[in-house]
Amino acid sequence: MRIVVTGGSGNLGREVMAALASLGHDAVSASRRTGVDLRTGAGLPASLAGADAVVHTADTLKPWEFREVTIGGTRRLGEAVASLDRPPHVIYISIVGVDHHPYAYYRAKYAAEMALRDLSIPVTILRATQFHSLAAALAGMRIGPVGLGVRGMAIQPVDIAWVGRRLAELASGPVPGSFARAPDLAGPDRFDAREIAGLVARHTGKSAPRRLDLPPIGATLRAFAEGVVLPGPNAEVGGARFADWLARQPRVLPRR
Ligand SMILES: NC(=O)c1ccc[n+]([C@@H]2O[C@H](COP(=O)([O-])OP(=O)(O)OC[C@H]3O[C@@H](n4cnc5c(N)ncnc54)[C@H](OP(=O)(O)O)[C@@H]3O)[C@@H](O)[C@H]2O)c1
Repeated sequence: MRIVVTGGSGNLGREVMAALASLGHDAVSASRRTGVDLRTGAGLPASLAGADAVVHTADTLKPWEFREVTIGGTRRLGEAVASLDRPPHVIYISIVGVDHHPYAYYRAKYAAEMALRDLSIPVTILRATQFHSLAAALAGMRIGPVGLGVRGMAIQPVDIAWVGRRLAELASGPVPGSFARAPDLAGPDRFDAREIAGLVARHTGKSAPRRLDLPPIGATLRAFAEGVVLPGPNAEVGGARFADWLARQPRVLPRR
């Protein structure tokens, strides 16, 4: 199969590309460095020619680009797919809890899901929890010697390679009639902020920091404290454990 991976050069995209190649598929990355810009739609039609499926991982963490890339770019991709005689299956990576979370990036991810739902094309949404690298970065947040967190927040991070493999399997598997959701993915371990910060501190050779856990003031911190980003009972749990992932990382953790 010819499978286009938007953002195939990104952290997750590279995992998807590798998983597709190992399944024997022809995986093609589409992003700005290959001439495809989701902000404008430039290069999109040519990149989709002959595609059997599209795994959509390209995104931005720049808040001023959420509207144009996360939402507008996903809509432009969906419209380009819908204009084809034989629209390929679009598999979109999203985040657990985006439909109930006020954080601006999560709201944009949910709006992007809805933009795909509104088009009559085969779509599968796969939501995952935070990748191990992001969880480690959050756990390592400090001001000087003081570790920062949100009181009551827990996190259940997931192995990016497992998510990449699942996206590749979805892309090469059965095509839904229209809009579908795959079971959410989460890793095996749930941590509170103190526990995961302690693991990260030990790995980096620092002493466990004194903690400043902010009270959950405001809707966004409250949603984190209330566990909106945690998987529900129907989520699929698997992939490498956080501690095993951490043990494979250099002492100075790469920035996510
Ligand atoms: N990090 C997490 O914990 C987590 C958890 C669940 C889901 N996710 C989702 O996983 C996805 C991938 O995250 P990631 O960490 O792998 O991201 P990443 O490493 O930052 O990669 C982003 C990719 O998007 C491309 N891109 C950025 N702007 C673009 C534009 N205007 N047009 C076309 N391509 C563009 C980049 O390539 P160019 O620079 O070449 O354009 C790059 O390949 C995101 O959708 C994110 O929401 C992340």
